[in-house]
Amino acid sequence: MLKGCIVGTGSTTPKRVLTNKDLENIVDTTDEWITRRTGIKERRISSGGLDENTSDMSTKASLSALEMAGISPEALDMIVIGTVTPDRQFPSVACFVQKALKASKAVALDVSAGCSGFLYALSIADNAIATGSCKNALVIGAERLSSITNWEDRSTCVLLGDGAGAVVLTPSTGTHGILSTHLQSDGSFWELLYSSDGISKIPEMLNTIEGKPFYMIMDGNPLFKKAVCCMADIATEALEHNELSSADVKLMVPHQANLRIIKATAEKLSIPMERVYTNIYKYGNTSSATIPIALDEANREGLLKKGDFVLLVTFGAGLTWGASVVKWSF
Ligand code: COA
Repeated sequence: MLKGCIVGTGSTTPKRVLTNKDLENIVDTTDEWITRRTGIKERRISSGGLDENTSDMSTKASLSALEMAGISPEALDMIVIGTVTPDRQFPSVACFVQKALKASKAVALDVSAGCSGFLYALSIADNAIATGSCKNALVIGAERLSSITNWEDRSTCVLLGDGAGAVVLTPSTGTHGILSTHLQSDGSFWELLYSSDGISKIPEMLNTIEGKPFYMIMDGNPLFKKAVCCMADIATEALEHNELSSADVKLMVPHQANLRIIKATAEKLSIPMERVYTNIYKYGNTSSATIPIALDEANREGLLKKGDFVLLVTFGAGLTWGASVVKWSF
C-alpha cells in the first residue's frame, strides 16, 4: 500500500512586522488584551508589492521545501494549494506557482477549505500518491489575509497575518509517512466565519465594484467553542484509527488561531503543552499557512526525528476541520 511521505518542508513570512503596540494606533485595543485573549504579540504583513503575494510566498516556501527534499520542480506531478486569498479569482495560485517553478509536468489546483486548506490539500495529494496517479507532490498552505482584513474591526484585525508553508511528498511503501487524514465539514455553520465578497452573489459583487472593500466577518465566541470540540474529536478519531494514544504523540502541530483554543484542545487530548508546537505569538493566524509554517519551523529546530508520531489538527471556515497522523520519515 502506497502512502505519501513528507521528505521536505519550507516556509516564509513577509518582512514587515506589525506588533500589538502598532495595532493600538489603528483600533481601540491594547497589547495586554491581545496577548491575554489570543497569545499573539505580533504578525507579519505583506508589503502588497510585487513579491509578497500569495503566489510569491508559495513559490518561496516551495523552493525551500524542494531543496530540503532534493527534488527538482520538473519531477513534480502535482501542486495543491490550500488558500482563501488567491492572487486572483482565477487562474489558481497553484498555476502561478507551477509557472514560477517551471514544474511543467505538474497538475496544479487550489483548495478552498478555510483554515483547514492545508490538510485538505495534503489529503488530496496523499490519495493521489496512494492510487499511483501521482509520484512527487508539492502541498502548500499560503495566505495574504491582510488583503481581506477589515482594519476597523478590532475583533478580527488583531488576529490575522500573512505567510506560506510547503511540504514535498513522495511515495513510501514502508511504515513511515502519512498514516491517515480525517476530514469533516459542516456548511450549516458558515455564518460563523465568511468573506463579505460575492463574485456570483450580485449585490455583494456590486459593492466591491463600487470600491467598497470586502473582508472577513467572524463570530468569534461560538467559533472558539466549536474549534475546541471539533479539533479534539477529530484528533481522537485519527489517533484511535491508528491505534495510538496521546502518549504516543511526539509533537502536536495545531492550527494557530488562538493560544487559548490550542491549550483547551491539548488539555482535552491530554497532551502536555511541552509536546505542542506554537508560534502564534509571532505570526498570528495565517489560516491555511499556520500548520505548514509550524511544521517547517519544528523540523528545522530539530524537534522531529525519524519514527516520531506527529499529530496535525485544524479547524476553519466552512466549517471545516481535520487531523492527520504522520510517522516522520527523515
Ligand atoms: N481589543 C480589546 N477588546 C476587544 C478586542 C480587541 N482586539 N476584540 C474584542 N474585544 C472586546 C469585545 O468587544 C467584547 O467587549 P464587550 O464585552 O464590551 O462586548 C470583549 O472584548 C469580549 O469579546 P469576545 O468576543 O467575547 O472575546 P473572546 O474572549 O471570545 O475573544 C476572540 C475574542 C476573537 C479572540 C476569540 O473569540 C477567538 O479567538 N475566537 C475564535 C477565532 C477562530 O477560531 N478564528 C478562526 C478559526 S480559524
